[in-house]
Amino acid sequence: MKLLIMGRPGAGKGTQAAKIKEYYNIPHISTGDMFRQAIKKQTKLGLTAQEYMNKGLFVPDELTIGIVKERLSEPDCKEGFLLDGFPRNLVQAKELDKILEEAGIKLDGVLDINVDGQILIDRMVGRRVCKSCGASFHILYNKPKVEGVCDNCGGALIQRADDTLETAQNRLKVYDDNTAPLLEYYREKDLLLSVNGNQEVSKVFEDIKEVLSK
Ligand code: AP5
Ligand code: MG
Repeated sequence: MKLLIMGRPGAGKGTQAAKIKEYYNIPHISTGDMFRQAIKKQTKLGLTAQEYMNKGLFVPDELTIGIVKERLSEPDCKEGFLLDGFPRNLVQAKELDKILEEAGIKLDGVLDINVDGQILIDRMVGRRVCKSCGASFHILYNKPKVEGVCDNCGGALIQRADDTLETAQNRLKVYDDNTAPLLEYYREKDLLLSVNGNQEVSKVFEDIKEVLSK
């Protein structure tokens, strides 16, 4: 299964990706998570990425494309992968086409988690993520069993630096201007699989399994 997962910031890509990864046994490759790892380690890439991410802006294409290309060449991606948060603009989409073509890989589908307006801001501002494993929770919609503690690994839950109201609003605008047009790009390639993301987490996953089984 070689898939992309798309959707506006806060749509539930990471939440559903964790389930898809487990159910289909494929690696989850999130450019956002890779940048956050690099920030944690304070690498050169991390320091650059941080400047852009904290403003809700895209990290420059050449850096982003480089890390994706490298990651996709690793052996665990041979049988399948779920790419989350990449591509985010037409330049990245065309680069991905090239990378996949050179590797002789064909995408099976592009999942689009469709969620409307204001709820996305609530989801981002109320999100809490595990400091250790990155799992995503929500203070109202997806509560951990114990407040402030990760269900998966017991790590501490924190707020993402880009989940402030102002940055979240900016991320939505940047998505609508740059990433939304890619839905048409993949629809034309007959790869787009849209799922209603305005439902409970488990129902969204049921719908994903259904569209993927076709
Ligand atoms: P990235 O980490 O990819 O963030 P994003 O696209 O803004 O998406 P999010 O991770 O915020 O949302 P999500 O859809 O994963 O939602 P989640 O499942 O967590 O990118 C961050 C930054 O990195 C970018 O702004 C950019 O700077 C940089 N970057 C990354 N990729 C790049 C690229 N290709 N090029 C350039 N720059 C790049 O869910 C959100 C919340 O809602 C959680 O609290 C969750 O518990 C809750 N929730 C989820 N589903 C539901 C549901 N069905 N009902 C109720 N609550 C739900
Ligand atoms: Mg995410």
